[in-house]
Amino acid sequence: MSFARIVATGSALPERVVTNADLEKLVDTSDEWIRSRTGIRERRVAAEGETTGDLAFRAARQALHDAGVKASELDMIVLGTTTPDLIFPATACLIQDWLGANGCAAFDVNAACSGFMYALGIADKFIRAGNAKKVLVVGAETLTRMVDWSERETCVLFGDGAGAVVLEASDEPGVLATCLHADGGYKDLLWNPVGVSAGFKDEKNHGVRINMSGREVFKVAVKTLDSLVGQTLREAGMHEKDVDWLIPHQANLRIIEATAKRLGMSMDRVIVTVDKHANTSSGSVPLALDAAVRSGKVRRGQNLLLEAFGGGFTWASAMVRY
Ligand code: UT7
Repeated sequence: MSFARIVATGSALPERVVTNADLEKLVDTSDEWIRSRTGIRERRVAAEGETTGDLAFRAARQALHDAGVKASELDMIVLGTTTPDLIFPATACLIQDWLGANGCAAFDVNAACSGFMYALGIADKFIRAGNAKKVLVVGAETLTRMVDWSERETCVLFGDGAGAVVLEASDEPGVLATCLHADGGYKDLLWNPVGVSAGFKDEKNHGVRINMSGREVFKVAVKTLDSLVGQTLREAGMHEKDVDWLIPHQANLRIIEATAKRLGMSMDRVIVTVDKHANTSSGSVPLALDAAVRSGKVRRGQNLLLEAFGGGFTWASAMVRY
């Protein structure tokens, strides 16, 4: 049976850096509070007119270039995002045309912060089933577009960015296991209450804006990720000691540290980018992966545990032999 192997990675960030000190001028917060509670020092914010699709396109182009794969060779594009350029067509269709991959399957997956992990899981299944050979998987967001910059509880947490991988069918492993989960019963703890069918204003007449009960989300995230990494190890037939790198969702350094502790991993085996990127939702895991590959930390043949948790709730993971 074919495995889905990551041939190359790519990423893209907006140019504009917004530091914690910048946010001190907007809301009643402090660099000390943000750093100690989240690990975030700065985030990137998309320029006016710069979209999720623009970032996704740049990340995808870099991954395709490094993979030596032409866009016209792709069988499928799966793009995780909760901040698409348009309601439709899917952002995957937009970048398909920009890349010149016209004709292949292209669709978006909305699983909030787990979007990239869901997209990777879907792409892996298509390749394993023999229905696709070359797939572009992207996680891309401009989450700051739905941030209320007067709300200190949320505006300090998020950033914009995109990451991509090119997957290819291979006899060599590859993606070893993927786990995808959701529990819509937790909807109200982390959500954006406006939309096409529900209407573009909520009952308080707010526009598009993230609502989050931070403390509750934190608790469920830690507990859920704890059992998720256990399940991922079991499904991959591996033990904690077999994992070379943990590449977690970058929402909060304290959540990342709890997962590392559960795995018995020291923090020097964990990829951390939350300090520079903040929470980029679907962009976070592939951005961290690309940073780890480009820095030379992650090497061929190593086992990577990727995981994410977000609105829905959704949570998802993958064990990958890089
Ligand atoms: O990616 C999707 C998943 N999302 C997450 O994983 C996020 C999970 N949650 C978290 O990361 C954390 O809960 C937060 C970083 C959001 C908040 O940290 P916390 O340690 O849970 O703080 P808290 O919400 O319990 O708030 C503690 C205090 C409160 O003041 P009082 O009530 O103790 O007087 C808040 O009003 O901190 C206050 N606070 C702030 N102070 C300064 C909240 N936001 C800020 C802020 N600056 N930006």
